[in-house]
Amino acid sequence: MENSFLSKKYKIVQVTPETEIDYTYRVEYDKPVVHGQFLQVSIPTVGECPISISDFGTGFIDLTIRHIGKVTNEIKKLKAGDYIHLRGPYGNGFSLDSYRNKQLIVSAGGTGLAPVKSIIKHFLNNPDEVNGLDVLIGFKTPKDILFKGEVDQWTKSQDMNVILTVDRNDSAWACNTGFITDFVSHVKVKDFDNVEVIIVGPPIMMSCTAREFIKLGIKEENIWVSFERNMSCGVGKCGHCKIDETYICLEGPVFRYTKAKTLID
Ligand SMILES: Cc1cc2nc3c(=O)[nH]c(=O)nc-3n(C[C@H](O)[C@H](O)[C@H](O)COP(=O)(O)OP(=O)(O)OC[C@H]3O[C@@H](n4cnc5c(N)ncnc54)[C@H](O)[C@@H]3O)c2cc1C
Ligand code: FES
Repeated sequence: MENSFLSKKYKIVQVTPETEIDYTYRVEYDKPVVHGQFLQVSIPTVGECPISISDFGTGFIDLTIRHIGKVTNEIKKLKAGDYIHLRGPYGNGFSLDSYRNKQLIVSAGGTGLAPVKSIIKHFLNNPDEVNGLDVLIGFKTPKDILFKGEVDQWTKSQDMNVILTVDRNDSAWACNTGFITDFVSHVKVKDFDNVEVIIVGPPIMMSCTAREFIKLGIKEENIWVSFERNMSCGVGKCGHCKIDETYICLEGPVFRYTKAKTLID
């Protein structure tokens, strides 16, 4: 039986800078994964941290990492051809069946775009599986926009409606200015009984955005969020991620808002 605590080393095949501090690492990987799952990423002798799978395909996964601390700054030193240690994948992720045949609205703030990028791409490539795809993306400034090439393509796509906004616009990048919450009412909901909303971003963004969608008439049970809570084991053993009786690493990180709103420390 595989020891779930043991990490294995995987080869980095490509490193793509997204911003000054966010890089995407494409890694050779052949285990099955679900949209929105995460891996425990480690550098031996330095430490380990949870990172969402931002994209995947045959033989690879992408990890989009913000370099902000002990482990992530060590990862920044790695180049294509180097190895990184991974264990997982962990968490429930997003089940595609929850969104099929519905209008899907995805709202992502900052690095919150990473865990939902692959689900956006899935429905963009399979538009007949949903009854409309709307994506609301917010970053602090144009310099912070992740996946610029793809986001640019998305804004031109006929198969989904994209609202891209930045808190402060200090460049020629053509997008809206304002918080994501300012643009929730711009989304056209076709049928309030047939819509699902995914919200991922910093905790304050998720609760404020959920509130705006509820004001618009979306039911709480049709809203989904993903938690980026500090984790350690990732497999329900250490209790690090536990809020009340809920293990975020096992039961989450994706929750319906009806449950998520009760998970406040
Ligand atoms: C389920 C899950 C999925 C995640 N997915 C991603 C992902 O896809 N990409 C990604 O970059 N990160 C992701 N994170 C966050 C990531 O795990 C942390 O940023 C990481 O643990 C930092 O480790 P470190 O050792 O480099 O920093 P540390 O040395 O532990 O922290 C350095 C300092 O930065 C502060 N800090 C920690 N996190 C943040 C933050 N997000 N923003 C600003 N300051 C912070 C800390 O409080 C500390 O003061 C995810 C977290 C979870 C729980
Ligand atoms: S991270 Fe250890 S129990 Fe969830």
